[in-house]
Amino acid sequence: MINSKSAHTIQSWLKAIIFCELSLIVVYFYYKLTGEAVGGTRDISRITADAGTLLIVLSFAMSGFSYFFNFLDKYLVYRKYLGLLGFYLTLVHVYYALVFALAHPDMALSTGSRVWSFIGAIFALTYFIQMTLVSNNWAIKIIGGKAQRIILRFGYVALAATVIHFWIRKLPLWEDFMAGDFGSIPPLSLVVFVFAILAFLLRIAMEVMIRVKSQSKPETTESK
Ligand code: HEM
Repeated sequence: MINSKSAHTIQSWLKAIIFCELSLIVVYFYYKLTGEAVGGTRDISRITADAGTLLIVLSFAMSGFSYFFNFLDKYLVYRKYLGLLGFYLTLVHVYYALVFALAHPDMALSTGSRVWSFIGAIFALTYFIQMTLVSNNWAIKIIGGKAQRIILRFGYVALAATVIHFWIRKLPLWEDFMAGDFGSIPPLSLVVFVFAILAFLLRIAMEVMIRVKSQSKPETTESK
């Protein structure tokens, strides 16, 4: 007999998987709309990279959303599942990107900017692996809740590394768009970039509010 906690976990996973599938469909049609789809494994690599990164960004932004908009509290439970599914999608991207790099080793790290993009990618990848490993109850038993929270909170550094990774790679495309040579709809990587920046700003705003509130607390107590 399945207990209610397990049933709730399974339900949350299923809802998050459906959301993940819908994200993939939306990203695919966005690619069709902008004409970015060229067919083949490059599309799979880029679609999984964009959809995966969007889910990861959403997962990071959820605590900020629920802090500022209380009615979104009920969605906080999906934060972990969306983050994990986003990470699994980016693993597909990593697989195809590495297969391509190994087939064209002369191109892969041919310029300084590609090397920096790769360093960002490796850092993000290893940190997200670490976050995945500690996002379990048994990890809390082994490393403790405090260590787990620190590792998860520093996930923003991995998000920054991700942004650096694709910003370096996609900047020429974004410049084409700014110059009007791409079309009227922005490349998806630019949309992902803007979302990621908004997630950072949301986190900073939340941190400021928490500090302001904690500083004003003793005064409130005294004045009572
Ligand atoms: C060793 C690991 C990785 C390698 C070798 C790699 C390689 C690449 C390459 C070559 C591109 C350019 C694709 C193109 O323009 O066709 C790219 C784009 C991108 N990567 Fe990675 N990547 C890695 C890891 C990651 C990770 C861990 C993430 C996210 C968590 C990520 C997110 C992205 C995103 C969002 C794009 C932009 C996709 C687009 O719209 O074209 N990558 N990556």
